[in-house]
Amino acid sequence: MINYGKHFIDKNDIKAVVSVLKKKALTQGKVTDLFEKKLKEYFGSKYAVAVSSGTSGLNLIANCLKWKKDDIIFCSPITFAAGSNCIVNQGAKPFFIDIDPNTFNLNFNLVEKALQNKNIRKNAKAIIATDFGGNPCDWKLARKISNKYNLKLINDNCHAIGSSYDMKKNYASKYADFVVHSYHAVKNFTTGEGGAILTNNLNFSKKAKLLRNHGIESFSLKKNSHPRAMLDLGYNYRLPDILCSLGISQLSRLNKFIKKRNQIANLYRKKLKGLENIKMQNIDKNDFSSYHLFSVLIDFQKLKKTREELFDFFYKNNIKLQIHYLPIYKHTFYKKKFKINEKNFPNTEKFYKQQVSLPIYYDLKISEARKVINKIEQFFFR
Ligand SMILES: Cc1ncc(COP(=O)(O)O)c(C=O)c1O
Repeated sequence: MINYGKHFIDKNDIKAVVSVLKKKALTQGKVTDLFEKKLKEYFGSKYAVAVSSGTSGLNLIANCLKWKKDDIIFCSPITFAAGSNCIVNQGAKPFFIDIDPNTFNLNFNLVEKALQNKNIRKNAKAIIATDFGGNPCDWKLARKISNKYNLKLINDNCHAIGSSYDMKKNYASKYADFVVHSYHAVKNFTTGEGGAILTNNLNFSKKAKLLRNHGIESFSLKKNSHPRAMLDLGYNYRLPDILCSLGISQLSRLNKFIKKRNQIANLYRKKLKGLENIKMQNIDKNDFSSYHLFSVLIDFQKLKKTREELFDFFYKNNIKLQIHYLPIYKHTFYKKKFKINEKNFPNTEKFYKQQVSLPIYYDLKISEARKVINKIEQFFFR
C-alpha cells in the first residue's frame, strides 16, 4: 500500500539509537545538548530547545507568553488542531483567519483588516502561522504587521523543515519570534515523536528550557543546590537522549530527504499541470518548499465526480490519499465552544471541498509516483 507519507530509517539510525541504549543515561542529557547544537547550526537560530513534540512546543510558547482570558491569537484554520489548541489550553481565544487561495497559507492582510476593530486591536497578542505543506508564508508582511501592532509572531514550521524563504534557510527564526518543529514520524525527518522550539531570544530559550523540566532548575545550572528549586509551574516536555540520537542521525540526511521530495513534487507538477480542474500550490520563485505535503485542489463539481469516488478508486489501486485538513473550526469541540460563521471563510471552505494530499516521502519510488499520476489521469477521464 502506498501511503501519503512515511518515515525512512537506515542502519546508521539504528546504530545511533543502540549506542545510547548501551549508555547509563537514557533521559535528557548530553545527546540532547548535541542535538540542539546541530539544530541551531542547520536552521541558523541562536537557540534551540528540544521538546517531546510539536504540540508541547506550541504549549510551551503559549505558556511562556502567558496568554490569558480575552487575549486574541490569530491563526489559520488549515493546519493541525494543535495550532489552535495551544491557545485554548492557555485560556485565550483563537481568532481564525481565512487562507490565501493560491499559497494555502494564512492571509496576513486579513489579520490587518481585523485589527482595524478597536476591541480586537486591544486584545490581540500574537499570530501563529503555518508554512502549509512546506510553503513559506509571506513572513516579511507578517513581521511588518506584528511590529506595527506589537504582536508576537510564531512560525509553526512543522511542515517546512528544510524550506527556504527569500533564498534564506534560516528564515524561520529570522522573521518569527518563536519557531516550532515537529519530528513526528511522518515529518521531513523524525525522532519518532519529538519537536523543538527555535528562537533568537536568549531569555525565552532559558524560560522554555526551565518549563520543559517542570520549572525546576536543572543540575547543570546549579550544581550544589539540594533540593532543586521549582521556580515556575512547568511540565515534563523533555526529549530523551534515545530520541535525540535518532534526530542527529536523521538530520544529517535531511538534505537528501528533501531533494527526493522535490524530485517527486517536480514530477507531479510537470505531469499534472496540463490537466483541467486541478490546481497546485503557488510557491514564490524566491522560496523553496521542503514538500512535507503535495497538495492539489480538484474541482470535483466540474469533473462531475466526488472526492469519495477518487479515494475509493485509489484505495482499490493500493494508494491511500489524505485530506489536510478539516478546518479547525469544523471540529466538534470548536463548533460547540465557539460560534464561528463559516461564511467568513470562503477560501478555506472551497479549499476543504477540493483538497487532496498525494503520496510524497523519501522512500517513494519514482515508478510509484508515476503510478499516482497515471491513476489521476485515469480517474479524470474514465
Ligand atoms: C502544522 C503542525 N503543527 C503542529 C503539529 C503537532 O506536532 P506533534 O505531532 O509533534 O505534536 C503538527 C503535527 O502533525 C503539524 O502538522
